[in-house]
Amino acid sequence: MYKRIFVISLIGLFFIGSAGMAATTPELGRTLLESELTPLDTAILPNGQGLPRGSGSAVLGKPLYAVHCVSCHGVAGKNGLHDQLAGGVGSISGPQPVMTLGSYWPYATTVFDYVRRAMPYHFPGSLSDDQVYAITAYLLFLNGIVDESMVVNESSLPLVKMPNKENFFWQSFDQDMGP
Ligand code: HEC
Repeated sequence: MYKRIFVISLIGLFFIGSAGMAATTPELGRTLLESELTPLDTAILPNGQGLPRGSGSAVLGKPLYAVHCVSCHGVAGKNGLHDQLAGGVGSISGPQPVMTLGSYWPYATTVFDYVRRAMPYHFPGSLSDDQVYAITAYLLFLNGIVDESMVVNESSLPLVKMPNKENFFWQSFDQDMGP
């Protein structure tokens, strides 16, 4: 009899315990709905996979740059308060490397991805896709990579060849891990 009561009280304790535990979970959040996830899923691969529809040219990008970017990155991407965005081509292997989109970045598609997700610094995500295409075209133009009237869009941007691309080497995972 005592034994049975003991077993019953143990089971009771288990339920009280688990109810108590459920009430004290950190409640960090909930699974996102598909409709909430889609706007956040903006990754763009080097080959352009994930680029949205849209287009722009340097001619259209220049005035947008003047409004949204020049205060931090300077006229024509130089001598600003923050990162230099143009010039420096050929300096990377020298004693004073100047890292810019033209001198360092391997993929033009990454310029679009980065600007869309992170710039302007104080208001990321505020530019439309067409505006980001136009500003990307302008940045590529400032680096002498495309001409002023070239229309940059989801098909043409992945074909743009960046000057420093060949200096990036891919190693397979197996090689990194050793034998
Ligand atoms: C309020 C200042 C500010 C404004 C405005 C701004 N940026 Fe930036 N930008 C920064 C800062 C700071 C960094 C460095 C961020 C870091 O390293 O994490 C940066 C970095 C960048 C880079 C990366 C440079 C590199 O080589 O790593 C790019 C490209 C860029 N900005 C483009 C833009 C464009 C295009 C605009 C306008 C749409 C813009 N920025 C507006 C402050 C700004």
